[in-house]
Amino acid sequence: MDSFSTPDHWYRVLIALVVIYLIASIFRFLWHPLGHIPGPLFSRFSTIPLFLQSLSGARAGWIVAQHEKYGPVIRIAPDKVAVSSASGIKAIYNNKNSKSHAYDSFRFQEVKMCIALLDVKQAHTRRKALLPAFSRQNLMEMEFVMRHHLEKFLDWLEKFDDTNTPVDTFKWFRYLTFDVVTDIAFGQQIGMLSSNDTHFIEQVEYRNKRNSLNGPFPFILPVMRLLRMETAKKWDRADEEIASYAVRAREGWAKAGEANRHRVDILSRMEQGSKTNPETALSDKEIIATMMEILNAGSDTTANTAMFAAYELARNPAIQEELHQELVTAFPDPNTPLDFAVLEKLPILDGVCREALRIHAPIPSYLERVISEDGIQIEGYDVPKGTVIGMQAYTNHRDSVVYPQPEEFIPRRWFEATEEMKTSFLPFSAGPRACIGLNLANMQLRIHLGHIFHRYRVTLAEDTNEASMKHVEFFMVRPISQKCNLYFKKYKS
Ligand SMILES: *[C@@H]1O[C@H](CO)[C@@H](O)[C@H](O)[C@H]1NC(C)=O
Repeated sequence: MDSFSTPDHWYRVLIALVVIYLIASIFRFLWHPLGHIPGPLFSRFSTIPLFLQSLSGARAGWIVAQHEKYGPVIRIAPDKVAVSSASGIKAIYNNKNSKSHAYDSFRFQEVKMCIALLDVKQAHTRRKALLPAFSRQNLMEMEFVMRHHLEKFLDWLEKFDDTNTPVDTFKWFRYLTFDVVTDIAFGQQIGMLSSNDTHFIEQVEYRNKRNSLNGPFPFILPVMRLLRMETAKKWDRADEEIASYAVRAREGWAKAGEANRHRVDILSRMEQGSKTNPETALSDKEIIATMMEILNAGSDTTANTAMFAAYELARNPAIQEELHQELVTAFPDPNTPLDFAVLEKLPILDGVCREALRIHAPIPSYLERVISEDGIQIEGYDVPKGTVIGMQAYTNHRDSVVYPQPEEFIPRRWFEATEEMKTSFLPFSAGPRACIGLNLANMQLRIHLGHIFHRYRVTLAEDTNEASMKHVEFFMVRPISQKCNLYFKKYKS
């Protein structure tokens, strides 16, 4: 018994484990049902390359590089396949294939968020409860809420302009979209534009990292906790803090009473749906989980896209001038509020939003599904039942056949969009699980960017360049420097 605790013995156990792992890897390599699918050699043995790429936030670019080397259907881990061809979209993102466990960390206590529900049917009920709230018509009734917060944002731009100070758009667009989303969703006045406090933004970042890594690699958090790493505590605290924010927001909403809240805010719509239709009734925990989901999915993503759009316009002054002229022609009075119904029909503004979503897709990531039934065929490869498979917007948006000069910001390419361009455009994913908040995102982008570029000329600050804006991806994309300083100069009227 004594010998069991000697270091010598543990050493042997460790060697035995490594040998077993290696033998298992060789078997996996030689006789795996995905053996016929090409990919980097090491990825056929082991998940380690994918894990390291994910950990460093470089996974999206790495997968694009592997496609360039090995073709449209590749193996990125022993049991995971990535697809780049547009023909895969319908074959993968449909009613039959379920989600994988990669989304499992998206939950409130034991209740999964909609994004994490495996089954299309289950998700359907949750989505049905939300759809009325995210309809275009419902959101149009909330246009004044978006404008209200945007006016505060524009006041800030004026102050920054007066003192010739650059605006960190990474931060300030987040303040704006958090204020908008919390108000539209639960009538909350979180007031980030007033407080200029980054604490909440940091919590959301921690939580993104936690969920994006611990989902596909569920050993990470237990190992980090075992090693008593500070980061694990930060990640867990961030998750708890956002959960408790959602709980308090719902209490505040209930206390405010019907007379004192927006008649059609998202929470009202959800609660109405729960009461009137047993089919879409959500439990208390499901409502909280959904609130956390809206908070996350509805703010960072839109803020990032607005930031990247402003950055692209700052470094493409001719396009910015075209956009400004388009806006001034549609709205000659410099101080008038710009109606969304007009904004959404402006072609350059539309192209600007699409190009920002294309080059800087807020969720560029590999989105996993599990092949159901008898398997499928993609690009001549048989993919058996049970395979984890996925595509990423990051790859499709860089297809140079569909989008010539894919890295170039060319809003006009959308004036005559081909069917291929529309099919391969996946900022909100595709199929029955596509992003439910797409109307809200599209509306916010057009209202925010429309007002800003109507009134302001935007230029790059000294420390904003391609290197500082390089993508890092933890499920959502962000610039590596976590900042994007731009100057906003008001046009003289
Ligand atoms: C916002 O907060 C940062 C960090 O605390 C501070 O440096 C900056 O001056 C503040 N900006 C404004 C406009 O209050």
